[in-house]
Amino acid sequence: METRNQVVEAGASETMGGARHRRSRPQPAPSASCGDTAVVLQSVCQLYLRGKVADVTYATGAFWRKAKRQFTLLRSDLSSGVDLRRLPYAAASLDGLICDPPFFRHSLTAYLHAPQMERSYGLSTAPKSHSGILELYFGAGKEALRVLRHGGYLVLKCQDEVAGGRQRFTHIELLLLIEKLGFRAVDLFVLVQKRVLPISRGNQQRFARKNHSYILVFRKPRRVRAESRVGAEISRFFDSA
Ligand SMILES: C[S@@+](CC[C@H](N)C(=O)[O-])C[C@H]1O[C@@H](n2cnc3c(N)ncnc32)[C@H](O)[C@@H]1O
Repeated sequence: METRNQVVEAGASETMGGARHRRSRPQPAPSASCGDTAVVLQSVCQLYLRGKVADVTYATGAFWRKAKRQFTLLRSDLSSGVDLRRLPYAAASLDGLICDPPFFRHSLTAYLHAPQMERSYGLSTAPKSHSGILELYFGAGKEALRVLRHGGYLVLKCQDEVAGGRQRFTHIELLLLIEKLGFRAVDLFVLVQKRVLPISRGNQQRFARKNHSYILVFRKPRRVRAESRVGAEISRFFDSA
């Protein structure tokens, strides 16, 4: 009886004062969005980014087009001479670090046919193998571990790929790899692109064409495991990749 009353009361107050109540509620941050990354970044900002945050692959800054920022943003990119594996920040000086490195292997034809993409996103800076991609993210994770304070957030954008005819579920590989470094995975956002790339003439499609990417959020815990143990596990990880 008590439960029923409570339910009725909630319903009644929604009908009577609903409009006023709805206006004051914050928008929910969904786990999946359609469109461009700036939409997902709105949610990431809402939930995780405060204080001093570095975007270490800033490129065009497209990430931040829609975000309501409640933090100081520090920008850098390889194109301005700053490698994400050697950042000019002091240890434990940041509250957040966001990284969107090239997540596909470098392919000459891909970027020669997309000069605009090359100008905006530096596709030619991409590693030439899938394990090279993982190593770049791993370098970002290691540097993030140094520059983030305890409780700070590392945000990584990535996309799965087919490399050498084999499915590489990069988002799962990265979850394992970055957790081995000592971070805790705390959230995952999916971005669905409306446009699906066409199949080149004469090629047969073997796997689902990927039209989604991921934003992974990790937290640096209070205690991080000893580096020697992590190092051994990581070497095994790359051997099996
Ligand atoms: C996919 S784009 C980033 C797009 C960006 N998030 C935006 O909103 O425009 C990848 C960027 O990573 C940069 N990059 C590649 N290797 C890097 C490295 N080792 N250190 C820092 N930046 C790197 C490239 O110069 C390129 O600008």
